[in-house]
Amino acid sequence: MSEHSNRRILLIDDTPSIHDGFRKILTPVPVEHLELDEMEATLFGREIKTTTALFELDSAYGGQEGLGKLTQALQESRPYALAFVDMRMPEGWDGAQTIEHLWQEDPHLQVVVCTAYSDYSWDELLDRLQAHDRLLILKKPFDNIEVQQMANTLLTKWEMTERASVQMSHLEHLVDQRTTQFKQASEALQREIDERKQLESQLVQSEKLASLGQLAAGVAHEINNPIGFISSNLGSLDGYFKQLQDMLDAYREAEEAIASNEVIERLGQLRERIELEFLREDIPLLIKESKEGINRVGQIVKDLKDFSRVDSNQEWQWTNLQQGIESTLNIVANELKYKADVLKEYQPLPDIECLPSQINQVIMNLIVNASQAMGPQRGTITLRTGFEGERVWIEVADTGSGIAPDSLQKIFDPFFTTKPVGQGTGLGLSLSYGIVKKHRGDISVRSEVGVGSTFRVELPVHQTHSAT
Ligand SMILES: Nc1ncnc2c1ncn2[C@@H]1O[C@H](COP(=O)(O)OP(=O)(O)OP(=O)(O)O)[C@@H](O)[C@H]1O
Ligand SMILES: [Mg+2]
Repeated sequence: MSEHSNRRILLIDDTPSIHDGFRKILTPVPVEHLELDEMEATLFGREIKTTTALFELDSAYGGQEGLGKLTQALQESRPYALAFVDMRMPEGWDGAQTIEHLWQEDPHLQVVVCTAYSDYSWDELLDRLQAHDRLLILKKPFDNIEVQQMANTLLTKWEMTERASVQMSHLEHLVDQRTTQFKQASEALQREIDERKQLESQLVQSEKLASLGQLAAGVAHEINNPIGFISSNLGSLDGYFKQLQDMLDAYREAEEAIASNEVIERLGQLRERIELEFLREDIPLLIKESKEGINRVGQIVKDLKDFSRVDSNQEWQWTNLQQGIESTLNIVANELKYKADVLKEYQPLPDIECLPSQINQVIMNLIVNASQAMGPQRGTITLRTGFEGERVWIEVADTGSGIAPDSLQKIFDPFFTTKPVGQGTGLGLSLSYGIVKKHRGDISVRSEVGVGSTFRVELPVHQTHSAT
């Protein structure tokens, strides 16, 4: 039993003599008696009879008074550990009512009901108070040692219950602490997973770009040569044919001087067979179309080079985005052809400091997504550009399916896709997001299901640092 253990007991009984009885049993001999005993011991050499149990006993003579004392004790943080309550108190609350009130205030209080007879059966009382394990019954007349032992045991029980509840709240606190730590750890883990996913997608992005760049470089190299000699040959052919025309005109004039009718007739037949007049008209046209064709091939190669910037990949450059948008549009033209009309609402843009091939990649992802969002009906893709403050913006708006609100949160996540396997990897937007963030820009979306979506990219004109 610790020195500071709670020894406080409240006795509630309407009979004053009962209080005297309890006091004799539970409280030590008064101090003046102790002094006398000590003197007697010194004079006659006898041992002092010490009281075995030390209790602090308070008295109340009715239920209400008892409750008042209990409440006050609680307020002063000196709770009672135990109350002895008389069952039959004719004035005010009886024992059962009193106990109910006491427990309402202090559920930890240990209670002993004292009685000679009862107005309730014991079962009734225990049921009413819900107290099969919290209530002891002490029948009058009391046995002193029984009362002392009850007090001792119940005070210890109170103590242990208190300690258990402190322990419990300590444990609860520990569990709370651990739960918080666990939550923090799992959040940190999630952040790390997200970062890794982001890095992984950037890696895929740079690999995509690198292989596209290599492809474009190879294609450009392979095709540029033949384009060169085809278009130079076509130029020569054009010139040669004009000379041949002149020559033919000269022959035609010279025909008149031919004497042989037979020869003239043969020439006429030959002319008709080969449709000379048609050839003279058609050959220049064919050459002209071929020249246009080869120019287009040249343009496609140039677009491919512009798009991937094979010549200066991964370098920050001052570029006009308009040119990039046009090259990108040419590259995806085939994809768009049967799906949507493209409207352009451009405002003049200043050059901006950027990684052009990567920005082109963003624009391409947005345009391809817009075209893939179209249903069976032909739609419209509107490309807008503008310049505000120190930032340029590009919008890609479509009249496609729109994006469901719960998907809207996830579309920039790596590998989020609603497209069938094989059609979408779910990387386009997450890569684009990464690229735009690298440029210290913003990418945002407005969308309405069944109406369409608008993606907006804003980019600063200047980069403060030129990190790749
Ligand atoms: N313009 C749009 N209209 C409707 N839904 C869109 C649009 N753009 C993106 N989404 C939705 O966002 C998802 C993610 O787009 P993202 O470009 O990242 O991947 P993806 O197009 O599915 O595959 P990938 O681009 O790798 O081929 C798409 O699957 C689609 O559900
Ligand atoms: Mg996509």
